[in-house]
Amino acid sequence: MANRLQTVNLYYSPVLRDITLTLVPGELVALIGPNGAGKSTLLRVLTGYLPPDNGHCLLNDKPLSAWTPQALSRQRAVMRQQNQLGFDWPVEDVITMGRAPWEQSNSRKVVEQIMALTGCAPLSGRKYNALSGGEQQRVQLAQLWVNDAPQGWLFLDEPTSALDLYHQQHLLRLLKNLTQAGNLHVCAVLHDLNLAALWADRLILLHEGEIVAQGSPQQVLQAETLSRWYGAEVHIGQHPGNHAPQVFLAP
Ligand SMILES: Nc1ncnc2c1ncn2[C@@H]1O[C@H](COP(=O)(O)OP(=O)(O)OP(=O)(O)O)[C@@H](O)[C@H]1O
Ligand SMILES: [Mg+2]
Repeated sequence: MANRLQTVNLYYSPVLRDITLTLVPGELVALIGPNGAGKSTLLRVLTGYLPPDNGHCLLNDKPLSAWTPQALSRQRAVMRQQNQLGFDWPVEDVITMGRAPWEQSNSRKVVEQIMALTGCAPLSGRKYNALSGGEQQRVQLAQLWVNDAPQGWLFLDEPTSALDLYHQQHLLRLLKNLTQAGNLHVCAVLHDLNLAALWADRLILLHEGEIVAQGSPQQVLQAETLSRWYGAEVHIGQHPGNHAPQVFLAP
């Protein structure tokens, strides 16, 4: 059984048109594109929350609609920006509850280790609903841990938008390392093209519900492409550390 998520000529009316893409293991994929392009909608279709009107969305060659909710919840997780719970639980309990589908050990020691790895240790004892958006995202990441690492497909909608500089770097480094280790497949909507250039293996650019460009950061982050699809005037430079393309707005 191929371990991949695939859409074939997928339509979700009236937002998405003719989307064909394949997500494979070991890759960190960034969905980019202007406001209203359909990125969040595509994420919802890829995770099975919205059924396509036409075409296919297949996880391991089986339509998402044919998976039981429980089997699907063992395969993929979604990280949202704001995620208030209907109950006032401490962080430790939210992590334990989120790990329930995997039926893993949730001893105090295991949960403490996971919290240390995901930067949640300072949140110990706090109530989840009272955390900031960025702190809640860290707790959501901790929920995905299986054994020593998170496993399966992780979808994130603008995960760095609420994070400060340190936590942007921490989260993206962590996702990159875990993806390279081969257990986690990451697909994230990112508005910050410079972060995408530093950490994503592949960029998929959406515009008005269609894929208009995809490839490596070098291939997609070109001044002409960005001006055309975002309507912004930009210059492309190089990151001083690793020569990744970096996007600068013309003043
Ligand atoms: N169920 C729906 N029916 C009709 N239009 C919808 C539906 N859901 C979303 N839209 C519209 O589809 C477009 C794409 O929305 P979406 O939220 O996917 O964009 P996005 O790329 O995530 O934008 P942003 O960068 O602002 O988050 C928007 O114009 C939105 O208003
Ligand atoms: Mg969105």
